[in-house]
Amino acid sequence: MASDPSSPLLLSPARLRTLEMRNRIWLAPMCQYMVEEHDGVPADWHLVHLGARAAGGFGMIVTEATAVSPEGRISPRDTGLWNRDQTRAWQRIVSFCQDQGARIAVQLAHAGRKASTWPALPRYRARRGTVPEFASGWRTVGPTSEPFPGLDAPDALEKADITGVIDDFVAATRRAEEAGFDAVELHFAHGYLVHEFLSPLVNTRTDEYGGDGPGRRRLAREIATAVREQWPAERPLIVRISATDWIDGGWDITQSIELARELEQVGVDALHVSTGGAVIADIAVGPEYQVGFARTLREAVSMPVAAVGLITDPAGAQEVLERGDADFVAVGRAALREPSWPQRAAHELGVRDPTLYPGAYHRGSW
Ligand SMILES: Cc1cc2nc3c(=O)[nH]c(=O)nc-3n(C[C@H](O)[C@H](O)[C@H](O)COP(=O)(O)O)c2cc1C
Repeated sequence: MASDPSSPLLLSPARLRTLEMRNRIWLAPMCQYMVEEHDGVPADWHLVHLGARAAGGFGMIVTEATAVSPEGRISPRDTGLWNRDQTRAWQRIVSFCQDQGARIAVQLAHAGRKASTWPALPRYRARRGTVPEFASGWRTVGPTSEPFPGLDAPDALEKADITGVIDDFVAATRRAEEAGFDAVELHFAHGYLVHEFLSPLVNTRTDEYGGDGPGRRRLAREIATAVREQWPAERPLIVRISATDWIDGGWDITQSIELARELEQVGVDALHVSTGGAVIADIAVGPEYQVGFARTLREAVSMPVAAVGLITDPAGAQEVLERGDADFVAVGRAALREPSWPQRAAHELGVRDPTLYPGAYHRGSW
């Protein structure tokens, strides 16, 4: 990665493979539940939401979890990348974000046994459990038929179905290239399908996709390998993991290190470090609560690492990078209230960078 010694790290350009980013600030992936008329097709909302943050100076935008198949959606209002209409709609959003100087990665996802849930929007607040089929829900799948607490039991995936899931990731990767995405981020975190296979608390299979560490990591490894083969060699592949289940006997940092090393070997270029989601656990949430996991992983591998989780203030974000805890920071909720967080970060860190602003906004520069 390139860096300019005269600029704070947070605002310095960086590189993954041949992809240059204007700074080290990523927009964290965030489901919007705003798909409107057609299944999985991103709408005007997505253009405005992602476009505003691209215009606000983010180095890289990571889209919300975008399903590789209809049954892989978290909710009926999620985006997808399994057909031509979705590809075309994404193309417009991708090209707008790139025109603003941002890079854009699609987060490819399969929600596994946590699919078919109600959108997390205020108007659905009273709804609980799995969305029934008569209300546009669907049957879910998982490593076993054991349900996530409060949700319907999934169908356990047979070996042939697993091959189908891998093929869906590969097909979505092909469409991501067609749509012009700069990078792919594989969503292996938060208790969705791949994390369900990783966690010993969820994956109790006895075949080659379960059992010991290598068995539970097999699906992650096979998807990453197959996607890397499909994705153009010059473009980066990122993987988001949960570094821990926050519960004894669960997935933990030691197993995450083993996984990260394997992912690096199959050509993954960066790790995006989150936590939790596979089981219900007490999570000690506070400022920068996941940064320590990013640091531990960064020390164990040679690929760059992104930290996320209540990194809200520019000086704090700069310190995360300066201490060597991470190479990138991702900003989530703070960017929902402030689309131009990077512009303010530059101002507060003493950087005057006109390229962070679209021409039409120069007169409003900090
Ligand atoms: C509204 C919302 C939607 C989210 N959707 C996703 C998602 O689609 N994929 C994902 O990996 N994480 C998702 N997350 C988690 C965020 O990417 C991020 O890791 C988390 O919010 C912590 O960062 P923050 O404190 O900066 O918000 C979501 C978070 C929020 C608040």
